[in-house]
Amino acid sequence: MCGIVGYIGHEQAAPILLDGLERLEYRGYDSAGIAVLSPEQGLQVKKAKGRLKVLKALVDDGKAVEGTLGIGHTRWATHGQPNDVNSHPHLSQDRSVAVVHNGIIENYVEIKEFLMGEGVQFRSETDTEVVAQLLEYHYKQTGDIMQAVYRVLHRIEGAYALGILCADLPDAFIAARKDAPLLLGYGEGCSFIASDVTAIIRHTREVSYMEDGEVAVVRADGIRVYNALGQSVEKEHSFIDWDVSAAEKGGYAHFMFKEIMEQPDAVRKTISPRLRDRRVVFDELKITPEEIRRMQRIVIVACGSSYHVGMVGKYNLERLLRRPVEAMLASEFRYCDPLVDENTLVIVISQSGETLDTMAALRQAKALGARILSIVNVVGSSIARESDEVLYTWAGPEIAVATTKAYSTQLVLLNMLGLYMGDILGSVQPAEYARIVEELQALPAKMEEVLENTERIKYLASRYFNHSSIFFIGRNLDYALGLEGSLKLKEISYIHCEAYAAGELKHGTISLIEDGTLVVALCTYAPLFDKSLSNIVEVKARGADLVALTDDSHKDELRKTVENVLSIPDTHTIFKPSLGVIPLQIFSYYMALQRGCDIDKPRNLAKSVTVE
Ligand code: G6P
Repeated sequence: MCGIVGYIGHEQAAPILLDGLERLEYRGYDSAGIAVLSPEQGLQVKKAKGRLKVLKALVDDGKAVEGTLGIGHTRWATHGQPNDVNSHPHLSQDRSVAVVHNGIIENYVEIKEFLMGEGVQFRSETDTEVVAQLLEYHYKQTGDIMQAVYRVLHRIEGAYALGILCADLPDAFIAARKDAPLLLGYGEGCSFIASDVTAIIRHTREVSYMEDGEVAVVRADGIRVYNALGQSVEKEHSFIDWDVSAAEKGGYAHFMFKEIMEQPDAVRKTISPRLRDRRVVFDELKITPEEIRRMQRIVIVACGSSYHVGMVGKYNLERLLRRPVEAMLASEFRYCDPLVDENTLVIVISQSGETLDTMAALRQAKALGARILSIVNVVGSSIARESDEVLYTWAGPEIAVATTKAYSTQLVLLNMLGLYMGDILGSVQPAEYARIVEELQALPAKMEEVLENTERIKYLASRYFNHSSIFFIGRNLDYALGLEGSLKLKEISYIHCEAYAAGELKHGTISLIEDGTLVVALCTYAPLFDKSLSNIVEVKARGADLVALTDDSHKDELRKTVENVLSIPDTHTIFKPSLGVIPLQIFSYYMALQRGCDIDKPRNLAKSVTVE
């Protein structure tokens, strides 16, 4: 949520910052701004409400702002409306300090009142402005910007990644972090900060990740990092090895479609290093078979689509392990006094590895003694670093706000984990194990097959895109799948839709079905095909229009009742959602396209949600 980038070197900073912000726009896109420092022009701040292109036009693609060091920000509003004034960077009253911030300063009201009592006049409604104003206040008192920074960090509460420019510091800028992502980039004669590596990968692949409480002084010839006590810290450098083109559209109209198409490959990359001699191997896991056997319960915590992976996991892992598995929304888990202990395995799922609610749930579970295993896409992210065990999904950078390939890789990895643990627990018999591995190996090719048949889905979208209310129904794994299908559709097309456990319809929701209501019926879960068919008949009798999804073995039977039937190849039950989600993603994509929506950057959303 909110993206930060900073540059210092020998080239003009503004174009580099704007380019970085373009890559970070997925983190927030209601306004953007840059602050650049030059000996001639001093501290210049340019910001604008709206997408980055508005700012780019304002500064003539950066040419209108001179200077070789600067910071930039793309915003997802929390405090104060998205407008020019509330956009970052925020300047202090005498314009000596400019600040960009990702996170929330929780005690900003109290600090603001204190500063106003000292005669400081505020311009914006944001929590961030207090950081700039408080910095100026302490800078005036101490005459030392680093001392001022430490005093401010001591006073503010909440989460922050900060980039700070000081007019009196012409050859450096400062960065600080607590509970919000920030990395340092080391280039040739230049240095960077960024919320995410995609912002700077064109310039350097050598990075290090800031830890909570650290402060960095960023200069062209190097970066010095200090801990919360002001002691110098040696940072470990990491090398980013993924291809730059992974973060480009590569000829597709939208990142989302590109990422949908990348799924077979992403899943292949997730599976192949962990499959040896037809056995699932997790070299990266430290947890011993003995410890796995001790785990009496499994709790999966996550948000959004990652939670929906957890919902599929609840059904699949319970089936494979014969142990109780619960999927919980991280935002609920935090406040429900959760029953977890040292005999609980908490599986944390997060694409970004930075979602604040998920992070807080992780910390709480850890404090209660649970073993934390996370499934994460972003290497070195906060969740990855704080977990006992990490399984990376290797989906590559996912740029579209609505997740597709991250969901698919999380799902396959969770199934593999279930298989691995089921083998250790003896709850998966050898013949079943072999059958699942065989299907696992076949999965990427079957996904490709689904992706080859998009015309029918496109046609259905052209027929139904004007609907204002859509229901997804399904049982068991199809219910979990419906949750994701429905979320995908509402996220990007803004159509009101809901997912219901099909058996639950009759307890209330069926009253909403009338002539022409579109119901997407999911019938891929073969053991309950007949039950789902009965639910289809019920809604059809009440006038619903139907689109149904099933597997190849059941499509002919379903066609006797439903005109619009989509099908996926047959596979092992646990992999049905992995294939079933693809037509639903494509349906959402074409629905949104028909409705002229901004597919990669839907309104009000952000990809990485670092606020509560
Ligand atoms: C945001 C995104 C969703 C995502 C959720 C959890 O709401 O828009 O697509 O599923 O965060 O994100 P995570 O990075 O933790 O998987």
